[in-house]
Amino acid sequence: MRSLRTLNPYLWKYKTHLLSGIVFVMFSAWFGTLPAQVIRDVLDMVRDELQILQLIKGYYVHSYFYTFVRDTLLLSGATVLLFAILRGFFLFLTRQTLIVMSRRIEFDLKNDIFNHLQSLSTDFYRKYSTGDILARIGEDVSRVRMYIGPAIMYTVSTVTMFIFVLATMFSVNVWLTLIVIIPLPILSISIYYVNITVNKRSEKVQEQLSNLSTFVQEHFSGIRIMKAFEREKSVNIRFSENAEEYKKRSLHLAKVNAFWLPVISLLIGISTLFTVWIGGIWVIQQKITLGNIAEFVLYVSMLTWPIASLGWVTSLVQRAAASQTRINELMNIQPSIVNKNPNESNIQGKITLKNVSFGYTDEQNILDNISLEIPKGSSLGIMGAVGSGKSTLAQLLVRMYDIKHGQILIDDVPIQELNLNSLRQQIGYVPQDVFLFSDTIYNNIAFGKIDATEQEVMAVAQKAAILKDIEHFPDGIQTVIGERGITLSGGQKQRISLARAIIKNPPILILDDCLSAVDTHTENEILSHLAEVKQNKTTIIISHRISSVKDCDNIIILKDGRIAEQGSHEALLALGGEYARLYEEQTTVISSVTESTISSTIVEI
Ligand SMILES: Nc1ncnc2c1ncn2[C@@H]1O[C@H](COP(=O)(O)OP(=O)(O)OP(=O)(O)O)[C@@H](O)[C@H]1O
Ligand SMILES: [Mg+2]
Repeated sequence: MRSLRTLNPYLWKYKTHLLSGIVFVMFSAWFGTLPAQVIRDVLDMVRDELQILQLIKGYYVHSYFYTFVRDTLLLSGATVLLFAILRGFFLFLTRQTLIVMSRRIEFDLKNDIFNHLQSLSTDFYRKYSTGDILARIGEDVSRVRMYIGPAIMYTVSTVTMFIFVLATMFSVNVWLTLIVIIPLPILSISIYYVNITVNKRSEKVQEQLSNLSTFVQEHFSGIRIMKAFEREKSVNIRFSENAEEYKKRSLHLAKVNAFWLPVISLLIGISTLFTVWIGGIWVIQQKITLGNIAEFVLYVSMLTWPIASLGWVTSLVQRAAASQTRINELMNIQPSIVNKNPNESNIQGKITLKNVSFGYTDEQNILDNISLEIPKGSSLGIMGAVGSGKSTLAQLLVRMYDIKHGQILIDDVPIQELNLNSLRQQIGYVPQDVFLFSDTIYNNIAFGKIDATEQEVMAVAQKAAILKDIEHFPDGIQTVIGERGITLSGGQKQRISLARAIIKNPPILILDDCLSAVDTHTENEILSHLAEVKQNKTTIIISHRISSVKDCDNIIILKDGRIAEQGSHEALLALGGEYARLYEEQTTVISSVTESTISSTIVEI
């Protein structure tokens, strides 16, 4: 339960809602109990006055008295109606305060969690899956909301109702009250246990539902693979199995749910039976009146829901506490990459690496003792086998991770001491895994520079050699590209990702294998534009193709996390090592291609 204390500041923020809500609930509960007393008085009055009417039948006062009785009845009816209206009115105000408060706190909580998640570093996202994070923002927060809204509302309402009803009942007849309320605690306890079972089973239903939706989501996003491998039938079978399990669990839940109402009805029935039976005997013995029995029957029905809700509320609070614990666990995680410098600054573009070593785990180093100097405005090509640490190095430069040993200096300032926002704003980074949003091409490119005009977007689209493709799309630059850019080819996606980075016009540009999916002709076109874009920028080009890096001022070859070779294109060729071997390999491949391609490709290389 302690975890729920974290919510106190939120409750304090909406204290006016909370306090006025509590007062409204109390009024609503009070007006709910009053009609029973009116009904008791009316019944007793009617019984007495009917006798009087019988006695005075035939006398001239009879009609006056009859009118009087009728008017009193009407007035009593109007009073009951008035109480009902007032109860409803206060219930409306309660919902407007307490439930509105719970929705606002839900909103605040979601915002806080979202902001916190945004501040967390990439290592956090390696540990937590998207499904887990979504569950915490969605399911857990709504459970906490059930505590803040309904649980508080029903608790106050139950307590108030209890006090009013029990006080009146005791004032009428202590013994009858005691007899009538005996079954009620049993009702509350049994509902608590029924609820625990309901929760356990509905949790299982939820779990299976999420399995089912993950299954469906994954298979629809991978529908192309599924069709290509002709796996529809086997997927159908697996889906049926999953759905069957879901049905089984749902029916299991329905069974225990079916107990709910009968249990409540039975226990209320017993209470009512006691009231009428024992009350009836006492009426005969003239200990209580007929009106008292009617009044007690009403009280019993009034107490039923609050008592039942007591069990329900207890389980709500328990679930909320468990959910809040999970939320707190998330909120207590500190970002491993912290911004130590509040002052934004301009980056010139000189990059220095001094004995940099880094590994994702403590056991294994991916980069090992790398020292490198990239002068401002120069270009560096990085080549190396798959898994040699090229992308890792690029990610270190945008400070996705902090290094364990050595130093990375930008303009001779250690990267950790630079303002994190300035650093990331002033680096144009094209990651190896292209990620595009399900939005228009325009918005995807302008993501790099929020206030970019259409002309700017068009200009960078041209530099990234994507403009011609865009012009062929039905809505041009405003074409929506589907989930993660599904309607685009691999090369088109890469070029949009490139345009998104260069629109920032950053002093440092890092291109991680971003031309791998384009043909040599387009690659050449982009490289020729890049020559212009690169001016006065420090550019790092990671690639498997010699053609992409050959014009760089300096080229390094990474091997097992170390720099194996370093130098210009010519120097490396002269060295006759790995680079020369790659060059040899890539040109030999070309020589096996058709005549016409050979001539154009050789010109490119
Ligand atoms: N987030 C991560 N967590 C743990 N290990 C990782 C992570 N990213 C990469 N690695 C490991 O680090 C090593 C280097 O990966 P990296 O992506 O830097 O290689 P690369 O040189 O870019 O390869 P490629 O040419 O295939 O893009 C690989 O062995 C990989 O398994
Ligand atoms: Mg890579």
